[in-house]
Amino acid sequence: MSYETIKVETRGRVGLVTFNRPKSMNALSVQMMREIVQALQTFQSDAKIGAVVLTGSEKAFAAGADIKEMQGLDFPEALTTDLWAEWEGLGDFRKPTIAAVAGYALGGGCEVALMCDIVIAADNAKFGQPEITLGVIPGMGGTQRLARSIGKAKTMDLCLTGRLMDVQEAERCGLVARIVPASDLVEEALRTADKIANFSLPAVMLAKEAVNRAFEVPLSEGLRFERRVFHALFATEDQSEGMEAFVQKRSPQFKNR
Ligand code: HXC
Repeated sequence: MSYETIKVETRGRVGLVTFNRPKSMNALSVQMMREIVQALQTFQSDAKIGAVVLTGSEKAFAAGADIKEMQGLDFPEALTTDLWAEWEGLGDFRKPTIAAVAGYALGGGCEVALMCDIVIAADNAKFGQPEITLGVIPGMGGTQRLARSIGKAKTMDLCLTGRLMDVQEAERCGLVARIVPASDLVEEALRTADKIANFSLPAVMLAKEAVNRAFEVPLSEGLRFERRVFHALFATEDQSEGMEAFVQKRSPQFKNR
């Protein structure tokens, strides 16, 4: 499969997707969205891949949806084509995803980072939902996932003023898991993804699913789901191996990686 707007590589058990529209600060075009979702589908069905890193350039993770492409749309076109709905392919991706964010993650770029499981950010990263400055609002989770992630106060502040947040603020409010020097960003994200990819894949995928349940269902249902999944994992060889290895003071050799 050849891609025009992204670079797709594998590093051992990790898939690496690099956004590649440098002239427009990695603005997210419809073609780019489709290519990213296609690359993820390929990684989903590749048993050798255990985690995926999404990244941009040092200047921009992605500066939002491509404004020049959207500019001429009218309401019937946006509605009938369900503009940007295909991004849910990223939200539905079942293996772990890490967003390695340097530079601007604005609008749709911030929302793509929010759809990933872990955000690792460079010390120059900036986040924001500036759609209000364009006469629109976020369209792929900026009012919903962001509110669940960082709470109402910060989400209202960002969505209503369009102001940008620096990386320290983004870490303080829980959007960013770790801050690293820009020069180490991709390597740190790849190391983290490789660590995850070497655990038991069923356990990793179910851990992801269980955490995401916290945002969908009442606490009692989430706790019940978690407990049943925990019970179910005792049916795997990797549970036997993981616990035996601990007792024998050696590293586990998981089969279902
Ligand atoms: C199209 C974009 C773009 C975008 C930047 N460019 N962002 N093109 N869509 N989102 C283009 C510029 O037009 C310019 O092209 C080139 O990239 C470099 O950008 P500059 O503005 O010259 O760079 P700089 O002064 O460094 O400012 C960087 C910036 C600014 C702060 C990121 O470009 C900016 O504010 N961009 C828009 C951010 C935004 O509003 N995002 C939300 C989009 S709406 P030329 O040809 O002039 O060199 C959205 C809705 C999501 O995301 C809904 C669901 C997906």
